[in-house]
Formats: sequence, C-alpha cells, structure tokens
Amino acid sequence: MSGKPVADVHGRDGTTHGDDVRGMFDAIAPTYDTLNHLLSAGIDVRWRKKAVARLGQKRLPAGDLLDLCAGTMDLTKMLADQFPGRGLVAADFAKNMLDRGASKVPAAERVVADAMQLPFETERFAGTICGFGIRNVAETRKALVEVFRCSKPGAAFVTLEFFKPTRFDTRLFHGAYAKVVLPTVGGALSGEGWAYKYLAKSMEGFLTRKEFEALLREVGFVNVTGEELLFGIASIVRAEVPR
Ligand SMILES: C[S@@+](CC[C@H](N)C(=O)[O-])C[C@H]1O[C@@H](n2cnc3c(N)ncnc32)[C@H](O)[C@@H]1O
Repeated sequence: MSGKPVADVHGRDGTTHGDDVRGMFDAIAPTYDTLNHLLSAGIDVRWRKKAVARLGQKRLPAGDLLDLCAGTMDLTKMLADQFPGRGLVAADFAKNMLDRGASKVPAAERVVADAMQLPFETERFAGTICGFGIRNVAETRKALVEVFRCSKPGAAFVTLEFFKPTRFDTRLFHGAYAKVVLPTVGGALSGEGWAYKYLAKSMEGFLTRKEFEALLREVGFVNVTGEELLFGIASIVRAEVPR
C-alpha cells in the first residue's frame, strides 16, 4: 500500500474517499496502537478516559453502548471497564483495525460498517462514543444523522477529536506536529508515510469544535457542550438525544 495517494479528506469525492481511508487504516492497523501512544506521549490514554467518563456524566438509559469508528477498540475496552454489564458494539469500516482489537474485549460485538450507513436498528443505543474517527468520515452530517437515529431518547453521544484549531498557538502546534512529526515518525515506524501525511491533512481540513457543535444541534441533539483538552489540541464534545 505504500505510496498510495489519498483523496482530499474533505474533497467530498464520494466513494473513493471512503475506500482510500479504509485502505489506509487497514494498512496501518499492525502498528496503530504503538504509534498512537508514542506519537501522543501517552496523553491519548488520559483523553480517552476523560471521554468515557463524560459519557456516564448523567444517567444513561438502559441498553447497549456503541464505539463508533472503534479502530483497535481501546475505547471499547474502557467502556467495558466503566460500564460492566452493558452490551458493547464496536463498529468500524476497516476490518483489520477491529481484528487487532478483538482480544481486548472478546465479549464486544464487532461490526464492519460505514458510519454513514449503520446496520443497527433505530433507537438501539443508550450511548455512543467516537474517538478520533469522525473527522475521517467523508460526510460528517450523514454520520451524525445515523448516530441520532440509532440512539435511544436520553442517550448521550461523546466525540473525542482533533478539531480544526482556532487559537493561534494551537494552530502553530497542530501545523508543526501534523506536518513534521506525524509523517516523519509515523512514516518511519509504520512504513506507510503516505498514511500519516493524510492524517495531517485531515486535521487541517476538519470543522472547528464550534462548527461541529452547531451541526449536532442541527441534526437534533440537545445539551451540546464542548471542552478543550491541552489548549484545544484535542476536544471532547458531549451531546444528548432529547427524552
Ligand atoms: C484514527 S482511528 C481512531 C480509532 C479509535 N477510535 C481510537 O480511538 O483509537 C479512526 C478510525 O475511524 C475509522 N473510520 C473512518 N471513516 C469511517 C467510516 N466512514 N465508517 C466507519 N469507520 C470509519 C477508521 O477505519 C479508523 O479505524
């Protein structure tokens, strides 16, 4: 897969975008976990824990939880620890990523699915979490509409993401990190430099947190609140489905 060009993440160029992104994650799956923790100096673990805590911030309805764009299922594992007894579903369109995560939570249902067309019944989930996934989805709105459809009244939806930064210092940091550190270190250790160039591009091209929050409200979510992590390098957004 090395050297494969990836379509512009927000070029909205239909199917090729999804195919390229899926192929890219399938290709980097073997080194994803190691690189993730290395490239974030382990901070991602703290951010993930916080996002999972946000999901349970208010009492959730009874029912299953969904880890959307679950990748190698780190968040699914944290959901299992935090919400024992709940049914868990990990959904991702890159099968290799889910396969890498399978042993972390053997009891979770693994579903290869596109976030824009979820194969789940309406109002199945009591809560959904999506970590560093939504910015990769070709049409953000379509995925949000699907999450809303699959959520029970009163369910929560938590997103942990690198939104487009608005602060000058954070923009500088994102730029340097995404353009230099990610492709250099990620490329060297995974052998898939093209993939890490894409990841850098996807951060630049995504919505700001405020824009994302507005989109959530437009789709029907209520009580939308956002918080910055480490000067806005990453953010958590929590939203609810009306009761
Ligand atoms: C950066 S990884 C994040 C994985 C995991 N949530 C984590 O926190 O480490 C992004 C994941 O989103 C998945 N993804 C991207 N677009 C998707 C889509 N349209 N439908 C389903 N999964 C998608 C990718 O396959 C990849 O596993």
